[in-house]
Amino acid sequence: MRLVVIVLISLLTVSCNKYKDIANTEQDYQIIPKPTSLEISNGRFLVDSNTTISASEDLQNEASYLAEMLSHASGSTINTGDSGNIQLKLDDTIDNEEGYTLSITYNQIVISGKTAKGVFYGIQTLRQLMPASIESETNKIAELTIPAVTVKDSPRYQYRGMHLDVARHFFPVDFVKKYIDLIALHKMNTFHWHLTEDQGWRIEIKKYPKLTEIGAWRSGTIVGHHPGTENDQKRYGGFYTQEDVKDIVAYAAKQHITVIPEIELPGHSSAAIAAYPSLSCFPEEQTVVTNNMISEGGKAIQAAGTPKIVQETWGVFKDVYCAGKDETFAFLQDVLDEVIPLFPSAYIHIGGDECPKENWKECPNCQKRIKDEGLHDEHELQSYFITRIEKYLNSKGKNIIGWDEILEGGLAPNATVMSWRGTKGGIEAAKHKHNVIMTPNHSCYFDHYQTEDKANEPLAIGGKTTVADVYAYEPTPEELTEEESKYILGAQANVWTEYMATTDYVEYMILPRMAALSEVVWSPKSSKDWDDFNARLQHFADRYNAMGLNYAKHSIQDK
Ligand code: ACM
Ligand code: ZN
Repeated sequence: MRLVVIVLISLLTVSCNKYKDIANTEQDYQIIPKPTSLEISNGRFLVDSNTTISASEDLQNEASYLAEMLSHASGSTINTGDSGNIQLKLDDTIDNEEGYTLSITYNQIVISGKTAKGVFYGIQTLRQLMPASIESETNKIAELTIPAVTVKDSPRYQYRGMHLDVARHFFPVDFVKKYIDLIALHKMNTFHWHLTEDQGWRIEIKKYPKLTEIGAWRSGTIVGHHPGTENDQKRYGGFYTQEDVKDIVAYAAKQHITVIPEIELPGHSSAAIAAYPSLSCFPEEQTVVTNNMISEGGKAIQAAGTPKIVQETWGVFKDVYCAGKDETFAFLQDVLDEVIPLFPSAYIHIGGDECPKENWKECPNCQKRIKDEGLHDEHELQSYFITRIEKYLNSKGKNIIGWDEILEGGLAPNATVMSWRGTKGGIEAAKHKHNVIMTPNHSCYFDHYQTEDKANEPLAIGGKTTVADVYAYEPTPEELTEEESKYILGAQANVWTEYMATTDYVEYMILPRMAALSEVVWSPKSSKDWDDFNARLQHFADRYNAMGLNYAKHSIQDK
């Protein structure tokens, strides 16, 4: 009997030692975004049917997420329990709200976060320490091991965003969820959902059913680059029900992603005006599709006596919400009343960009408003418009974000500015002690071409922003003092979809530029090193491959 016990104990020790002494190499630790500090060591943790995850009550969501990931990867059922060789913990001594530590030895994994969010990012790092093939739908790894390491990590910026325009082209709920999954993989934390536009209104508003009955559908779309060669004559559209929105917001919350809705005003509002023409300064004036690219369907609507249609071409249009009519504000407040409860986000994005002032100059209602309010011009009228909406949203406990045009005519008192026309607006706003999110077009517009060789690329809006250009971007402008720099909350990529009609194409335009941006907003400035990033990107691309993503390969060797 004694002999049997001794043999058993030595067998157990040998089997543990098998993983304890394995030598790891740099190749085992290819993480994007690069962690603040990472110390490699020998030994590997085996994930098998004996693996158990323990977590406190506050971390059950993270424990389930990790259990699902490890079960999928290993093919064994990984359980959660009271004691486990994987432990998820909260740790108050970690400074950053999103910071975490990850310790892996051959017999134990401990992930500690200041908050559940930090623990979630620790899990994302753990994910990247496992082979890329765990990402595939089908591939199970027979002997799944994770290299030993100590990671201490936290993000450089608190706002790390990805925007998606679902109005120029509409994307189904499943793709929006996939987009959210990608945001999580890259340790970003905000999804800016651009829901309303000239070419389509995409969110159900129960009080105004025509917004989606009429406003979510256009009778055709221009073909080719603006101004286009012809109209495709195809009815196009779609929208998200409020149930869809709740589903997406809850899905994002599980991955610690905040969804910020954008309800555009006062410009880019042709779709709402097509649904409710009295929101325009001139309800009887026909919608003009530039270069006469209007569809036969659009012409028929107008011939039947309905002047307003949902836009069918791209650009900036002069038919905007009337700033003189109280009806406009009543409508927008009603819309916001339905939007607010759907989104726990502290922010609502109210657009504010590209609002031509031509109609306001000629509209008696708008001119009366200017006079009554003692405003100097139409720029101040825009400021009045934004400030009035801001006051309403502030009274409901929400803050506004607006594109940098909201600086013109005077900035609304509590507004956060999204700087897109370069960095000038962001610098000015920060100097005035307003929070800023940097999305400068030169570095953060993922609708730009990503190579000089445009002829061999699918059609894009223009410009050129390579992966290296994104990586080189520094969100905190040199022009700011240390004190002013505190107003730079972070950065975001914008994905305008005029020329992205399919989900494949969206993937192609965001990946791998998103990987570069994720490192810009997460990793310490001092660790920026293109060659190092590019080497890690070659491994990261294996993950994209395993997920079946259609990513751009300009900076990837032989995949
Ligand atoms: C924008 O690109 N018009 C914000
Ligand atoms: Zn007006």
